[in-house]
Amino acid sequence: MQQHAKIGMIDSGVGGLSVLLEIRNRLPNASLHYIGDSNWCPYGNKSPEQITERIIALSELLIKTGTHIIVIACNSATIHAVASAREKFSIPIVGMEPAVKPAAAATVSGIIGVLATEASIAGEKFHHLLDTHAPPSKIKVITQPCPLFVELVEAGSLSGDEVTDAIRKYTTPMLEAGADTLVLGCTHYHFLRGSIQQVVGNNITLIDTGIAVAKRTQSLLADLKIQPSASSAPTLHIQTTGSLETLKSIFPILCPHLSDSASFSQLTQLTPS
Ligand code: DGL
Repeated sequence: MQQHAKIGMIDSGVGGLSVLLEIRNRLPNASLHYIGDSNWCPYGNKSPEQITERIIALSELLIKTGTHIIVIACNSATIHAVASAREKFSIPIVGMEPAVKPAAAATVSGIIGVLATEASIAGEKFHHLLDTHAPPSKIKVITQPCPLFVELVEAGSLSGDEVTDAIRKYTTPMLEAGADTLVLGCTHYHFLRGSIQQVVGNNITLIDTGIAVAKRTQSLLADLKIQPSASSAPTLHIQTTGSLETLKSIFPILCPHLSDSASFSQLTQLTPS
C-alpha cells in the first residue's frame, strides 16, 4: 500500500522543532506529527518517573494515530525514558543524547563544555556516555545546566540582551577553564546557536545532534520499506499541551519556512497530573 511514512515526535516544548527542521529537510515525503509538552515544560527539573510517565502517555497517543516511528526530540526525555518506551512499544524509537563523542574527538585543548538540562546531567545514561567517550584520564568535561535558555526559546526570544547575558553567565566559567568545544545538549539550545557562537567567538566549536538524529530516523524508516504515496501530500501537524496561541506565534520565529505548510492544534486529553 502506498502511504506517507508517519513520524511522531515528542519534546518538552518547542525545542524539538530544531530536530523537526532537520528531519523535514532529509525526509520531505514523510508526514510529521510533533507534540510539544509545553504545559509540562521544562522537563529539566522533573524526576525520571515524571518524565517517563509523560513520554509513555504521549507515545501511546502518537501510536494510536498510526505513527510508524517515534523520535524523542529531547535529550532529557531520552536519557530517562527511552529504555521504558522501547520496552513498552514495538515500533522503532529514536532518541538523542548530548554529543559527547564528537566533542571529545573535536577538542584540541582536551576540555569540553556540556550545556544540558539538570535532568540530563544527573542521568545515569549521561554518566555512562562520559565514561565511554570522555573518561577523566583523557578529557575534562565541564557540565552546565541552562534553564534560562529553555525559558527564552519557549518565549521565542533568540537574541538580544537577555539572551546574551544568559549565554555569558553559562559559558564564561567553561571558557575560562579552557574549553574549546561546547556541546548543545538540549534541543532548545540549538535555536540560540547563532547567538551563542557570537558570544563565545568563532574559535569555539559548537556541536549538536539534530542532523545525526535525522540520519538515524531516515535509516530506520528505510528498513520499514514504506512506499510514499503519489496521490497526497505529506502533512505537518504541530500539537501543544500548552497554549495554542503561543505556539502559533512562536512557530514562525523558529521554523519560518514551514509556517505555511503546518497545521496546529492543542492537545487537551493529557492535562498535567
Ligand atoms: N529540549 C529538552 C532537551 O533536549 C528539554 C528542555 C527542558 O524541558 O528542560 O533536553
